Amino acid sequence: MANALCMENAENLVEVRDLVVKFRTDEGIVSAVNSVSYDIPIGKTMGVVGESGCGKSVTSNAIMRILPENGWIASGSILFNSRLGVFDIARLPDKDKRLVQLHGREMAMIFQEPMTSFCPVYTIGNQIIEAIKLHTDLPKSEWRNRAIDLLRKVKIAKPEQRVDEYPYQLSGGMRQRAMIAMALASNPRLLVADEPTTSLDVTVQAQILDLMKDLQQEMGMSILMINHNFGIIAETCDNVAVMYLGRIVETAATKELLENPMHPYTQDLFRSIPQVTDQRGRKLAYIEGSVPDAYSIPKGCAFFPRCRKAQKGLCDESIPPVVDLGNGHKVSCFRYDQ
Ligand SMILES: Nc1ncnc2c1ncn2[C@@H]1O[C@H](COP(=O)(O)OP(=O)(O)OP(=O)(O)O)[C@@H](O)[C@H]1O
Ligand SMILES: [Mg+2]
Repeated sequence: MANALCMENAENLVEVRDLVVKFRTDEGIVSAVNSVSYDIPIGKTMGVVGESGCGKSVTSNAIMRILPENGWIASGSILFNSRLGVFDIARLPDKDKRLVQLHGREMAMIFQEPMTSFCPVYTIGNQIIEAIKLHTDLPKSEWRNRAIDLLRKVKIAKPEQRVDEYPYQLSGGMRQRAMIAMALASNPRLLVADEPTTSLDVTVQAQILDLMKDLQQEMGMSILMINHNFGIIAETCDNVAVMYLGRIVETAATKELLENPMHPYTQDLFRSIPQVTDQRGRKLAYIEGSVPDAYSIPKGCAFFPRCRKAQKGLCDESIPPVVDLGNGHKVSCFRYDQ
């Protein structure tokens, strides 16, 4: 059957549209992601930022189709411009062959804690070789050399020696590099990086982020970068989506967002980033209150109870529509700066 799906924009690798993800829990059904839409352009880095619990990981896990058993995609679409044509990931049945193709050869993921990706009882090399065996057509005779090449690519010194070491023998930064090497084994078109450097010290963090940038340029892959740290998002991403309680409140090209943040939540997030130029003794800014849980999402704009600009009778009545400000800048707020 001919593939009838078509990307809205041929320069996008992924187009998420009106995505709703729900979970069944003891307390009932909760919507963790509500009507989320964003694009991941080919060869570019899309950043998703927001406080803990706002739905960044659930959205990316839905794209990867690795939601836990009690979660499901209730509606919306996730178009993926794969090497074999355009698929709607949200609609593929669980055991569909195309899903296997996507997982093996088109998308890969790296996490915050590399120890969760590596099994402690096998060498790094064996685990990378397993990925090569599963996800490529290389002959067996070339597996080991390919694993060494991948370790070299992620700038691990003495890769011929490291390939035979166990995960515990590597430092945190080196393990993160090795995990990236394993993710690259399939030459993916999309790399999902969920808080990839949060457990590392700042110097190693900067090295890993630089490495990812270099690899992206070399391999032309797209990156979905998830982080609660606006600084990291600003440095590494071409475009940014700001999430709050399961919804995107603002999205724009990074430079545009940094220069003209429109949503009060985005502005507050900016204010809470410490600056080197801050006066000594200045109290760090923070956003009043905390993110409510997914069971008690306020009526109207979910940010209303914490918002400096909230207007009673307006913001607490209905969900603000998405306003397109042009140039890819969109904001969902009744009271955004005009
Ligand atoms: N398996 C699950 N069952 C029920 N609710 C879940 C499940 N997984 C996630 N959630 C809920 O979905 C919401 C979004 O969670 P998510 O993990 O996407 O947050 P996040 O933005 O990635 O936060 P963090 O920065 O802490 O990683 C949260 O309210 C969370 O409790
Ligand atoms: Mg998360």
